[in-house]
Amino acid sequence: MSTKAPATARPPVVHTYDDIIEEDNELPKWWVGTLLLCTAFGVAYYMAYSMYGIFDNPDIAFEKESAITRAKEAERLKAEGPVDKAALLLLSKDSATVADGAQVFTTTCAVCHAANGGGGIGPNLTDDAWLHGGAPDAIYKTINEGVTGKGMPAWGPQLGSKRVKAAAAYVITLRGTKVAGGKEAQGAPFEGD
Ligand code: HEC
Repeated sequence: MSTKAPATARPPVVHTYDDIIEEDNELPKWWVGTLLLCTAFGVAYYMAYSMYGIFDNPDIAFEKESAITRAKEAERLKAEGPVDKAALLLLSKDSATVADGAQVFTTTCAVCHAANGGGGIGPNLTDDAWLHGGAPDAIYKTINEGVTGKGMPAWGPQLGSKRVKAAAAYVITLRGTKVAGGKEAQGAPFEGD
């Protein structure tokens, strides 16, 4: 035991309950310093992000990046030239493009249209009936823009024009192949390209 009497150095007792003594100890300086620093940081952070917009919140940052991506994609599409019937028909006869399209179809479309295109949640793509048109440009448009509210997502933003074109080329090759066990026909009969 120490010989020094600690009695006078003890901080004042502020509260006693059930023999438990509460003292008024001074908080360590590092602790108070950390608290103040964190508080100041929190206030500055809030002001910088939420009040004055000095830095972008994640949703704003995301929106800005998306806008840049969209602008680039639009730019690229313009440079690529129009996606017209003739170009799509040509692509549907290019085996490399059709193979790419088949790949996209398997990974992205088969869940709703069946692996062989016979339909499921989505319509049969191998018959002669089309809800949104069976012409190449109509098929491209349906895939690219989707059908809002009908469960067909817009694939353009997710896949990009190259893969949408490949998927369209592949769907063009499916037309009229009438796979076994396909869904019943929906829509109007296809009148030709
Ligand atoms: C989540 C399910 C779903 C996925 C995934 C999906 N589709 Fe669809 N698709 C649908 C539905 C539902 C419709 C019918 C919309 C309607 O009723 O107007 C449709 C319609 C279509 C049509 C128009 C058919 C017609 O009769 O006019 C085409 C073409 C098509 N999809 C191609 C694709 C391609 C290619 C992909 C993959 C990139 C794809 N779909 C992925 C659900 C899906």
